[in-house]
Amino acid sequence: MALRHASRLLNHGPTVLVSSVADGRRNLMAAAWSMPVEFEPPRIAVVIDKSTYTREQIVRTGMLALNIPCRALADLTYTVGSVSGRDAPMPAQDKFDRYGVASFAGPELGLPLVEGCIGWLECRVISEPHTEQAYDTFFVEAVSAQSDPRVFADGRWTMDGRHPQLHTLHHLGAGLFAVAAETVQGKVLAGSS
Ligand SMILES: Cc1cc2nc3c(=O)[nH]c(=O)nc-3n(C[C@H](O)[C@H](O)[C@H](O)COP(=O)(O)O)c2cc1C
Repeated sequence: MALRHASRLLNHGPTVLVSSVADGRRNLMAAAWSMPVEFEPPRIAVVIDKSTYTREQIVRTGMLALNIPCRALADLTYTVGSVSGRDAPMPAQDKFDRYGVASFAGPELGLPLVEGCIGWLECRVISEPHTEQAYDTFFVEAVSAQSDPRVFADGRWTMDGRHPQLHTLHHLGAGLFAVAAETVQGKVLAGSS
């Protein structure tokens, strides 16, 4: 898909899975707080708390991927958002191995992308030490964008019910998600003269 459509993947605020790799060790966490901040180049803000192992990895490498999970991945999303990769059992087993998550390499950065997701963005971190420190907010630039054409093509989501397991997740709290299930086309009102 075209990189200029990357922001459309996140426009409606889906929960994402942040994947990263450092020193050969992969990691995966859930993030409900991400949003586009620029169309071209496609830039995104994502909150990554200081307590996370993900943060340690992305500070080290300057790279992360945003994977967009769907209804079928609700349990995985809640799980990787509830367990830290830092607490991996010995011998070191990352969350991909532990929960049987298949991955494929991103086309630009080679980051581990989660199979079964419906959108993928590989991103480079734009260094903003103040916002990272003060607000745990990382600005990133997407350098590759991919989508599952069954639900996202030509810069548009189709959520017409043909693939109910492939609709996006929106975190309400404590593992409860709303699923984006319907669309409505807004029209510009004529207004009274
Ligand atoms: C649905 C969901 C959404 C979350 N959103 C965020 C978020 O936006 N930012 C964040 O820092 N942590 C968020 N978390 C918490 C992290 O995913 C969690 O701390 C995770 O265990 C970190 O994993 P890590 O230490 O392996 O990086 C969320 C958790 C869940 C379950």
